[in-house]
Amino acid sequence: MATATTLLILGATGDLTSRLLLPALGQLLAREPERRVHLRGVGRRAWTDDEWRETVRTAFAAADAEDVFTSLVDTTYTRADITDADDLAKLIAEPTGRLALYFAVPPAVAAAACESLKDVDLPDDTVLALEKPFGVDEDSARKLNATVTHLVPEEQVFRIDHFLGRATLLNVLGARFANRLFMPVWSAEHIESVLIRYDETLGLEDRAGYYDHAGALVDMIQSHLLQVLAIVAMEPPATLERRDLRDAIGTVLRATHVWGDDPATASRRARYTAGSVDGVPLPSYVDESGVDPSRDTETLAELTCEVRNERWAGVPFTLRSGKALASKDGEIVVTFRPVNHVPVGLTGDAPGTVLRFSLGPDRMDLDLNVNGGENPFGLGRATLSTDLGEGALRAYGEVLSGILDGDATLSVRADAAEQSWHIVDPVIAAWRRGDVPLEEYSAGTEGPSGWPRPA
Ligand code: BG6
Repeated sequence: MATATTLLILGATGDLTSRLLLPALGQLLAREPERRVHLRGVGRRAWTDDEWRETVRTAFAAADAEDVFTSLVDTTYTRADITDADDLAKLIAEPTGRLALYFAVPPAVAAAACESLKDVDLPDDTVLALEKPFGVDEDSARKLNATVTHLVPEEQVFRIDHFLGRATLLNVLGARFANRLFMPVWSAEHIESVLIRYDETLGLEDRAGYYDHAGALVDMIQSHLLQVLAIVAMEPPATLERRDLRDAIGTVLRATHVWGDDPATASRRARYTAGSVDGVPLPSYVDESGVDPSRDTETLAELTCEVRNERWAGVPFTLRSGKALASKDGEIVVTFRPVNHVPVGLTGDAPGTVLRFSLGPDRMDLDLNVNGGENPFGLGRATLSTDLGEGALRAYGEVLSGILDGDATLSVRADAAEQSWHIVDPVIAAWRRGDVPLEEYSAGTEGPSGWPRPA
């Protein structure tokens, strides 16, 4: 029988809870009904238990998991100020089983709540889950780490990055580490470049309060794509257990720097203007409600990094993500160097082999040079493809299952959280100084003109 957990969602009336956490919880419980979860919603709004229960029921229904809603009959809602130690003490009193506090709130509120938790007696096995962004820069991330690790040991802290729960990212591990075809050539000697791209069609979606302060660089590159880079570039861990995997991630991120240490040439930023995405008109970003145009928030960011170690020095890793683009499309593209010499007699181009992982729908493609057909010595391109299949759980389901099991393997360790800020802080500073122009693109296009989509 799985350990019972009292899961307190702090920020229960927010968008993240209804859109991502609750559907994922429903799906998880439908697959693993033996789990015993005592769910408590906590928020600042004056909701009734019935309003909360209805939110949970609707979210479970959206995940085809309405049936398991009945297993949460005792779910209740409490109105509280989570930055107040007395309120917090009442909230955590007498949990059933392990206590898990999930902070689905903005970073400043999470930081204030963790500060107040210092005055509260937490059960020893309490786990704390904190949503991204973890802090607002390296310094604040370090302070927040000091606060949370004063409350509970590091292995009970879950800094959430739902990309680490994505099936595709986990699939990279198998392709990379279980094939002799790739293992010996996974280095600068054979790889020319790596592109990690996550293009979205969604616009702001009423998230100005958060997004207008974060922008694409923090929202996606700092929070998610650097972790993807780490999985692609890390040294092979001996096991995929928590310590080994996170050691490998931490080590490779410590070696990761902005290309040439020059954000002005290694980064680009842009913001969408009015346009239409999939036939639906979208207003200009600056006209969205809650946006402060003077903040110059970017909705598309690109950053090239170098991993300065023996394996990777000299290979550009380009990370790019944007909103309101022409298509939803995420991928990891590993481009190998061309061979040194093609035998005279084989005709046509022989560009480098390309290995591509698509991030939803999950698939893997290998573009190779082959000859044959009408002209037996003519080279052409062929693609070997395989669907990687859907993960059994949504990414947030993986995240929640780790929290309920008390297994922090697929969450971000303190050093990695600080280091990912260490990498992007100089870029943020350069953008604030105006060293990199803020370009524009029409919503529904592939980005600014003269800024071609990376190959
Ligand atoms: C979130 C970002 O963390 O990830 C969003 O805040 C983004 O802006 C989302 O849209 C992308 O991930 P997914 O899994 O929803 O495609």
